[in-house]
Amino acid sequence: MVDISKSHWTVSDWHEEIENRFASLERGEPFINLNEDDHREFDAIFLGGGAAGRFGASYLRAMGGRPLIIDQWPFLGGSCPHHACVPHHVFSDVAAQLLLERTFSGKLWFQDMKDKQISIMEIIEMFRQGRTGPHAFMNYQSKEQLDLEFVLNDQGTILDSKTVSAAGQIYRARNLVLATGSRPKEFTFDGHDLSGVFEHVSLVDTLDYEPGSTAVVVGGGKTAIEYACFFNATGRRTIVVSRDKPLSMIPDHETRSYLMTQMLEQGMEFISDSELLAVVGDRQGRVKSVRIRSSSGEASIETDFVFLGLGQRPNSEHATTVLGVKADAKGFIEVDSRMHTSVSNVYAVGDVVGFPMEMFKARKGGMYAARNIMGEEAHYHIGEYPDFMHTHYEVCWLGMGEEEARSRYPEVVVLKLPPDNPDGHQIALPAGDRMMLYAMMKPNLSGFQKLVIDGASRRIVGAFHVGSGAKDGFQYLAPMVSRGLTVDELGEMDELFLNPSYFIQLCRLRAGSKVLRGM
Ligand SMILES: Cc1cc2nc3c(=O)[nH]c(=O)nc-3n(C[C@H](O)[C@H](O)[C@H](O)COP(=O)(O)OP(=O)(O)OC[C@H]3O[C@@H](n4cnc5c(N)ncnc54)[C@H](O)[C@@H]3O)c2cc1C
Ligand SMILES: NC(=O)c1ccc[n+]([C@@H]2O[C@H](COP(=O)([O-])OP(=O)(O)OC[C@H]3O[C@@H](n4cnc5c(N)ncnc54)[C@H](OP(=O)(O)O)[C@@H]3O)[C@@H](O)[C@H]2O)c1
Repeated sequence: MVDISKSHWTVSDWHEEIENRFASLERGEPFINLNEDDHREFDAIFLGGGAAGRFGASYLRAMGGRPLIIDQWPFLGGSCPHHACVPHHVFSDVAAQLLLERTFSGKLWFQDMKDKQISIMEIIEMFRQGRTGPHAFMNYQSKEQLDLEFVLNDQGTILDSKTVSAAGQIYRARNLVLATGSRPKEFTFDGHDLSGVFEHVSLVDTLDYEPGSTAVVVGGGKTAIEYACFFNATGRRTIVVSRDKPLSMIPDHETRSYLMTQMLEQGMEFISDSELLAVVGDRQGRVKSVRIRSSSGEASIETDFVFLGLGQRPNSEHATTVLGVKADAKGFIEVDSRMHTSVSNVYAVGDVVGFPMEMFKARKGGMYAARNIMGEEAHYHIGEYPDFMHTHYEVCWLGMGEEEARSRYPEVVVLKLPPDNPDGHQIALPAGDRMMLYAMMKPNLSGFQKLVIDGASRRIVGAFHVGSGAKDGFQYLAPMVSRGLTVDELGEMDELFLNPSYFIQLCRLRAGSKVLRGM
């Protein structure tokens, strides 16, 4: 055990130490960071120091309480920087950049990209080299700036609802917060264990060869589509095999259809209403093909690279077995709006409590658990929230799509870009940062935006953006929309022209009329 309680570790110290631990197969001794001058009982042990545990512990500490984090990894921050959000954003950035380069291949200053295949190995290696930076910073920030106490690099074993053992010690607290996250679902189809079958964790941890010219992606959720767009952008034939229609998480038909058109234009192939039957290997145990069944019968696809984006399962088995906390049929721990489980003094937060499995929910769940533990009555109601994913673009949405709005409201008004244009001439809108080259030279690739309005109350009920740079806007728009933001109020705001989202000026163009009309 390495006791670091009394020493000051810089970001560089952490960087070197974490790199060394991952370079050797042995993870080494646990790190212990405890405040010997604080003689209070712990208010809570956070089992897991990912987004949910770290933010929960920080909030509890800020409120004057005493939290302890226990995490099996030598760093805080959890799966997001290690193999989930951060690598996904690296790959999605690469996909967006390559969309630009392939679109303008051989024009202006762009190199000729025809038939050019980009190395996936090199990009994964770049990520591996860079990922210790966020880990090192989060350890530094947690210890030196947030005054958090922690035990890292050892698994915690729950003994009872107030007691956890780790690093050879027993820790007791008034409360236990389960923040153990989730992992990719395991599958047992034939060939699941062949070399060349990956999910998002094994891809960044174990890829050790350059994938050939065909990638098969299984699944239709965010992970499957985001990674498929990346593989496609690298120049590989990319086939998405899904049992549902892809993009079904985006609640607007026209937005889905814009994205599907662009993905098809990039050469992606989709086999929907289909299932993976088996992955077939060669004598060396490497993937050589997949067998699928679709509405047109059984088929075989040759490939040496299969990516599974088939969803997550919760790391809840230990807690349900030892404590008997109630979980649903898929193992996600059940909590009330105070993040409390079925067992007194035991809370659960983050991915381990299920959908939506997003950073904002993990972090806010942690914060709400902390407030309740510290004596407040704080209820977290996950109501309207903005959502996003990537294709080759950044896609943001909130509220309801046009179809649902029309089923609910008698007068629905839609403002969108590009507007419908019966003569088929392509209009260079939307145009905004990162989209200007498309707007000038390839307008159909410059994105899509849509605002859905209840015409009677003039309230915004849905918003959709395909392009780049709208996330910030959507973060602030979502709470305003749920509080009843109207077209008139949106038209009163001040845009930073040329802004990536045109909602403010579109509303201003229409807000003067008593009876709203779409465009
Ligand atoms: C491919 C992919 C991309 C994603 N991209 C995004 C994105 O762009 N934006 C977004 O908002 N969300 C994204 N998400 C979701 C996001 O990553 C998760 O919602 C978030 O990381 C969950 O945080 P958590 O704290 O619940 O779990 P984690 O971050 O997984 O933390 C759990 C921690 O518990 C520890 N642990 C588990 N068991 C024990 C034990 N017994 N003892 C000690 N420690 C233990 C683990 O080591 C880990 O550190 C993505 C998910 C995936 C799969
Ligand atoms: N914000 C982001 O950018 C981002 C990025 C990635 C992930 N995430 C989050 O991380 C979580 C996991 O995302 P995910 O996309 O991996 O999972 P997901 O949303 O659960 O999607 C899983 C996909 O796999 C399919 N599937 C599951 N089991 C299958 C089987 N046995 N055979 C065939 N298909 C199967 C599902 O089909 P059915 O629909 O038919 O079940 C679905 O299309 C989600 O909560 C997501 O929001 C967020």
